[in-house]
Amino acid sequence: MSDSARVAARQSDERAGVTDDSASVAEQLAVVFDAGAREFDRLTPTVWGPAGQALAFQLRLRPGDTVLDVCAGAGASAIPAAAAVGPTGLVHAVDVADDLLELGRVTASDRALRNIEFVRADATRWEPPSNVPGGRYDVLSCSYGIFFLPHPNHATARLLQLLRPVARVGMTVWRRGALEQVTRAYFDAVARHVPDTPRAGRPSTLELFDTPDALRAWLSRFGAASVEVNELSNLIPLSPEFAWDLVLGSALRAPLLPLGPDVVEAVRLEYLSLLTERDVEVVDASTLVATAVVVR
Ligand SMILES: C[S@@+](CC[C@H](N)C(=O)[O-])C[C@H]1O[C@@H](n2cnc3c(N)ncnc32)[C@H](O)[C@@H]1O
Repeated sequence: MSDSARVAARQSDERAGVTDDSASVAEQLAVVFDAGAREFDRLTPTVWGPAGQALAFQLRLRPGDTVLDVCAGAGASAIPAAAAVGPTGLVHAVDVADDLLELGRVTASDRALRNIEFVRADATRWEPPSNVPGGRYDVLSCSYGIFFLPHPNHATARLLQLLRPVARVGMTVWRRGALEQVTRAYFDAVARHVPDTPRAGRPSTLELFDTPDALRAWLSRFGAASVEVNELSNLIPLSPEFAWDLVLGSALRAPLLPLGPDVVEAVRLEYLSLLTERDVEVVDASTLVATAVVVR
């Protein structure tokens, strides 16, 4: 990406009215995701895992590749990446949520993967450490994370600078409409018990890339070539336990943090009864999986 394209990305973030609040947003997200580590972990087999596997596969990882996986959580995409690049490769899995990182370390150890390091850091400030050959990665990967970065254009432009001159990039994002019914029922329940809570379920930045065409166009602005966007259909039967894990193990948890246990329980019951009333039997967790080659 040229310097002028980087400047344009920065200016576009600024036009969108964003300020340099990345560090405090990251710390707030760390608190939310750490609080929900147990429920997050239970979501891995049905939600985070399939997308992480699909992303690692679509990135066409090769033995020996060096991979930077940002917003890595417990390693849903970083662990399959480590398996794919093998002992001669290296994966840096970067996240701000300590408890998720620890889950990732345990999984890596259980699977005898010694080529992956889980590191606590803000993705927007990461610099490759000295064990990355040449100081630049072959691959950048980010599953369900890019929309949490307050300035995704600028953050992506910066992350691309950490890659070799010819490198691969991959990301997953929720497809437009995914999780909509559960999110709506949840915020309706919250509103009944805690009026004036902002309906912040869907990060506004997601709109930049929640359709295949928008995602392709967004990646192209960074000079990405060979862009491939696939839709991973993921329709998960809804049980009450799964419905509540989806709230507690994701950023949806945020509005519950200041509430006492009685109010949280009232929200839970209201949410579950709204889902029943509205005949929601399946959660649509469909996801876009995008990969591209970036040449600088
Ligand atoms: C929905 S989770 C996805 C985790 C993982 N990639 C997966 O698919 O299971 C989003 C993650 O982004 C992390 N995150 C948000 N902002 C971050 C930042 N600025 N730097 C590093 N991690 C961040 C959160 O802590 C959380 O673990």
